[in-house]
Amino acid sequence: MEYKNKHVLAPMVRVGTLPFRLLAAQYGADITYGEEIIDHKMIKCDRHINEYLGTTDFVERGTENVVFRTCPEERNRVVFQMGTSNAVRALTAAQLVSKDVAAIDINMGCPKSFSISGGMGAALLSKPELIHDIITTLKRNLDNTITCKIRLLKSSEDTVELARRIEKAGVSALAVHGRRVPDRPRDPAKWDEIADVVAALSIPVIANGDVFEYEDFERIKGATCVMVARGALWNASIFSPSKSSWEDVKREYVRQCILWDNDVKSTKHTLKEMIAHYSSLELAEGKAVIKSANTENVAMV
Ligand code: FNR
Repeated sequence: MEYKNKHVLAPMVRVGTLPFRLLAAQYGADITYGEEIIDHKMIKCDRHINEYLGTTDFVERGTENVVFRTCPEERNRVVFQMGTSNAVRALTAAQLVSKDVAAIDINMGCPKSFSISGGMGAALLSKPELIHDIITTLKRNLDNTITCKIRLLKSSEDTVELARRIEKAGVSALAVHGRRVPDRPRDPAKWDEIADVVAALSIPVIANGDVFEYEDFERIKGATCVMVARGALWNASIFSPSKSSWEDVKREYVRQCILWDNDVKSTKHTLKEMIAHYSSLELAEGKAVIKSANTENVAMV
């Protein structure tokens, strides 16, 4: 995996499934992260080749629940993001997908209580020894690129110190979301504090936060790569210098969801986010999406 001037689709729970990743790539994303998947869940899965769709599916044993779906077309740019608090479990989960993805990323920024109470996500930010253990275990046993994604700590000095320890542990790149754990999404991302990390490290830094237009990719100066979440969720053509209308992108997204048999809960969630941003869930279209019971219903909206 190369990290030079890359535009990156951020990990997004319920959004970053195969159709959305392919959509983003279609508009120009170079690297596409999957939604965070918890190691506990992944290790309950078996790997299946889905001949009908041409995909590789990771299906929860004893169920039909597809936890992760990928295809050869995205093999060289897809990042499998994992939530974990344990090196051995992380490795067991990563080994299952290692042949099918370009990189494995550890989520060290999720502030949700579900993650923190399980010792995952942002809980890792205060456990540098555990971070070291997880990264070195993955590095020693896998051929994949290993990365992680952090948030800012209380001070820029603390963030830089942690980033240096993570670099030493052997990651190939570090994604930095320019907000602290208690910050809300509406709080501005601190690009200057990301720049401090860029200046301190030799490995590529992937800058993340508040990229809403194609021009913003250039405005985060200094970072090797730039990662976008909400800007892409609302309109995935942000990766293209000539933005398409959100209605066109939405139609293309639905088409991809049908093609790749996306989980209807993920399709509905993503569409609702788009509609709520540009229109309203109170209008006919939004109400119809909410009422849809399956992908066919969604396609008729
Ligand atoms: C996220 N984010 C996130 N981060 C992560 O590391 N793993 C994840 O699974 C998710 N899930 C997720 C879902 C949704 C709907 C959103 C909006 C965000 C955080 C995301 O990757 C990113 O760090 C922040 O949203 C900041 O980037 P933007 O939105 O300012 O470009």
